Amino acid sequence: MENLIQLVNKIQRACTALGDHGEESAMPTLWDALPSIAVVGGQSSGKSSVLESIVGKDFLPRGSGIVTRRPLVLQLHKIDEGREYAEFMHLPRKKFTDFAAVRQEISDETDRETGRSKSISSVPIHLSIYSPHVVNLTLVDLPGLTKVAIDGQPESIVQDIENMVRSFIEKPNCIILAISPANQDLATSDAIKISREVDPKGERTFGVLTKIDLMDKGTDAVDILEGRAYKLNFPWIGVVNRSQADINKNVDMIAARRRENEYFANTPEYRHLASRMGSVHLGKVLSKHLETVIKSRIPGLQSLISKTICDLEAELSRLGRPMATDTGGKLYMAMEICRNFDQIYKDHLDGVKPGGEK
Ligand code: GDP
Ligand code: NA
Ligand code: MG
Repeated sequence: MENLIQLVNKIQRACTALGDHGEESAMPTLWDALPSIAVVGGQSSGKSSVLESIVGKDFLPRGSGIVTRRPLVLQLHKIDEGREYAEFMHLPRKKFTDFAAVRQEISDETDRETGRSKSISSVPIHLSIYSPHVVNLTLVDLPGLTKVAIDGQPESIVQDIENMVRSFIEKPNCIILAISPANQDLATSDAIKISREVDPKGERTFGVLTKIDLMDKGTDAVDILEGRAYKLNFPWIGVVNRSQADINKNVDMIAARRRENEYFANTPEYRHLASRMGSVHLGKVLSKHLETVIKSRIPGLQSLISKTICDLEAELSRLGRPMATDTGGKLYMAMEICRNFDQIYKDHLDGVKPGGEK
């Protein structure tokens, strides 16, 4: 059976190809219905660092100010062996093996949409990474929550970012990865504030605590990590990312993961929690959870997809000879992907008929 996460990835890409990312257009409710994981947090809370640790690769644009200005749909595909590479949906025939070039392309593609105005846009960039060092997982990176506009960015950007983040995480199918830095009071965490608004019982929020190594001497994060400070349905996960000095020294990501594991194993306060801390553990937990959520949503998705196939067929026949036009081609592709889902869903049902474990 094709991996469910990869299947949902394809539908997500089809939605974007048809200009649908949750607003008006051809597959309106489908994108909203797809389970996804969105990364939220204040600026400098460590979002990029967490994503790069999960991937095991340096590839995100960095700098001061608002760097992430479009949603980045990051699809991770585990491969058994071979060299890791990346592909953008907007550059379908180009394989990137140089991750510095990936970083440059994210930044260029952001500017192409926002016209260098430094404003934000809700049109996602889709990036796939194929690597032996990842788990199958899709994450949506969102602009960091901020209090002030800088660099000639319009005043409205603060509110625009908040609205964009909220529009993603308020959907019941969105799993929230809420990033808070341990060296600030949790009560002031932007991630906790906004996730509490849309998920007050913490039923679909994963709390991630960064910068544990930067806490004041004599303080520790045990109360948070054990769920006493702010209770969520899922256990909190602490991480130790590379510091700015590490980044400047180009400390290798795989080495950084190793050091992170050593930190939790060797710090007396955290030793008892070590097996459920760190970015590798975080990636595994999220992958497993995403797959469970997708499975539980299959029946609902199934009927939506059947409806989408009908809508697309109607749209195609309205267009006449579709393959001649770009739109027709995209519609056709989307329909194929939906049909594929349909088939795999049926195979899945066959596999789990009473008495039969697959
Ligand atoms: P973002 O703005 O939320 O994407 O935050 P970044 O990932 O860019 O991190 C902001 C700064 O904090 C960078 O200089 C990182 O090196 C540093 N940083 C992030 N996480 C940690 C951590 O766990 N420990 C330490 N020491 N520094 C961290
Ligand atoms: Na924050
Ligand atoms: Mg960032």
